[in-house]
Amino acid sequence: MSFTDAVLIGVAIFAILGAIGAFTIAYRRSEKAKPADSGLSAETLSADRSMEGVRVEPIPTVTEEPVEEEPEVVEEELEPVGSAVAVVETQRVVEVTVEEGGVSRRQFFNRAIAGTFFAFLGMQGVYYLAFFWPKLSGGFGTDVDAGAVGDVQGSVISADGSVVPLFVPEAKAYVVPAPPNESDQFEGRSVQAAGLQALFQRCVHLGCRVPWCGPSQGFECPCHGSKYSYLGEYFAGPAPRNLDRFQVEVRNGRFIIVTGSVLETPRAPSLSVNYPQGPSCIGAA
Ligand code: FES
Repeated sequence: MSFTDAVLIGVAIFAILGAIGAFTIAYRRSEKAKPADSGLSAETLSADRSMEGVRVEPIPTVTEEPVEEEPEVVEEELEPVGSAVAVVETQRVVEVTVEEGGVSRRQFFNRAIAGTFFAFLGMQGVYYLAFFWPKLSGGFGTDVDAGAVGDVQGSVISADGSVVPLFVPEAKAYVVPAPPNESDQFEGRSVQAAGLQALFQRCVHLGCRVPWCGPSQGFECPCHGSKYSYLGEYFAGPAPRNLDRFQVEVRNGRFIIVTGSVLETPRAPSLSVNYPQGPSCIGAA
């Protein structure tokens, strides 16, 4: 998966989580806008009023004189007890405001769920920002200084003419000689400088680190046996293309490897250099 794909997936995840969050907020607000008793039947409302937030104050029963009715008082007549006595029980309904009632259990759980969701969203955001934030100085993803040009050239090509790639850990790259004939696909890109190029250490098959094999003068992957010449050109194995490369340049006498982007190259139709030049380090592919 390329870097662009990873960014797109991250943005898509953000968009989905954001949409879920927006929908949740909108839904909660629409619920708040409704009256608390909307959607309930008259019977339920009546039962609810009789049970919730109600203080019942029984009034002594009166047998002979009728009790005067007050506003907001519900009276319920019970069956007469005995032949001459009628028992009347009165309940007083006392309305309780939201402020007096405080936070209900439902509100508490709704707020807890919303808080957890947004905390999770925030953590994901921080994670993605940290992951995709470009490094501004030092390390892989930036312009890495491999050393003075003369020193790099001297270490890559030994006195007897054999190649000894310079491995630059910060750039995860091998500095090797540049190919004699550069591919047209790199037109406009600086893929070689001072007769050198930089190869990404990652095998283009499944991503193992490809070690250098001095005797054969090539790179040989121990995972599935892909082999490449010292120029990074594909020779054998399941690898689909040559080793990937980075842009390079000479800046103030220093050899700089630009590791912000990886350049892919197709399999070379034929090798530009002789390979293998000796026994393999991993056996036949
Ligand atoms: Fe190198 Fe498979 S990862 S050959």
